Amino acid sequence: MTQNIRIGPYSITPLRPGMPTMTLAPMAGISNWPFRLICARMGARMVGVEFINCNAILHKNLKTELMMDFCDVDMYKNTGHSVLAAQIYGNDIDTMVEGAKVLEDRGAQIMDINFGCSVPKILRSDSGAAFLKDIDRMMNAVYRVAKALSIPVIIKTRLGWDHQNISILEVVKRAADSGAHAVAVHARTVAQKFNGQADWSWIARAVEVSQVPIFGNGDVFTYQDAKRMVKETNCAGVMIARAARDNPWIFSGDGVPDFLERVEMAKDHLQMMVEYKGEKIGVLEMRKFFASYFKGFPNASHLRSALVQVDTIAQAHEILDLWETRVPESTSKDIESQLSLPQSDTSPLFGKPADEDVVGSAVSSSV
Ligand SMILES: Cc1cc2nc3c(=O)[nH]c(=O)nc-3n(C[C@H](O)[C@H](O)[C@H](O)COP(=O)(O)O)c2cc1C
Repeated sequence: MTQNIRIGPYSITPLRPGMPTMTLAPMAGISNWPFRLICARMGARMVGVEFINCNAILHKNLKTELMMDFCDVDMYKNTGHSVLAAQIYGNDIDTMVEGAKVLEDRGAQIMDINFGCSVPKILRSDSGAAFLKDIDRMMNAVYRVAKALSIPVIIKTRLGWDHQNISILEVVKRAADSGAHAVAVHARTVAQKFNGQADWSWIARAVEVSQVPIFGNGDVFTYQDAKRMVKETNCAGVMIARAARDNPWIFSGDGVPDFLERVEMAKDHLQMMVEYKGEKIGVLEMRKFFASYFKGFPNASHLRSALVQVDTIAQAHEILDLWETRVPESTSKDIESQLSLPQSDTSPLFGKPADEDVVGSAVSSSV
């Protein structure tokens, strides 16, 4: 079914024979080292770092320093379970080269160049998917970054500017000549942003003309979708974003995690996030993961509402420890009565913003 994917010195294989090779897509505000480790542990064979602005890399601040924390890479190097692909974006090619060199020095194993971001602020600055308006400029960036680095370079892009200007076949043909080792194709146009459906037929066409491995991306929501994408497009690997954010177990295959596995994952993730961002921010950022880890679990809605309002690690543990010992034997109501936390039926987190807003807010705080 899926062949091994060769990217420079790395051979990226499926978790188990017969499975599609699945990788974690870069996601601003999400793909930090705690989440990358969670996904790698589940079976993501390459993990993407959230995109990092090359200007910010060169004029470091605390936020960029945190993004450039690749402490998880030693685990990948020692075990071979995954490979870390750091992602840059920018508008000035000299700056992109310098930024990429810094990330290489920080331990990135693969350099990914973002030519797919469709957030208006990024497009206005001629970064991200704006490169699709000038493919010579795009290829120059690929060539210059690849030439300056000793680690392999991949690119992530979209089908083209809009349906009248599909350029993905030209991009994949020229990318290899310019030095790219693989291309990740989000099967939407820039104009589509996240609307409509990803058109996988273009991934299939890209695979046919490409000399380098193609990662298919877009609208893989279940493990079955990942298998179907490989079957329908023959892509070498499947890159997953939103479904991984909501359900990192997707990388492990067909099985559905039981309740205790979810509790253990939530505790581990919480621990790492607190280590990464400190208790205040770490716990706050964990709320969205708590919401998705326990989404739809029978009898758990009241407790989930409490969990997404916690402010401290102790409050989170109080709930998770009780769940661990009592649920599913007890109803959530029984346990709820033992908790000192404020209870509420509603959580602001359950009304999540649209993805474009999520990306947008992450971008505005990172550039
Ligand atoms: C919250 C969020 C943040 C994202 N940030 C990035 C990013 O930093 N770099 C990038 O290339 N794509 C980014 N994307 C796009 C995804 O990598 C992916 O291409 C897109 O979500 C389609 O894949 P999916 O259907 O599996 O979600 C982001 C998407 C989301 C939802």
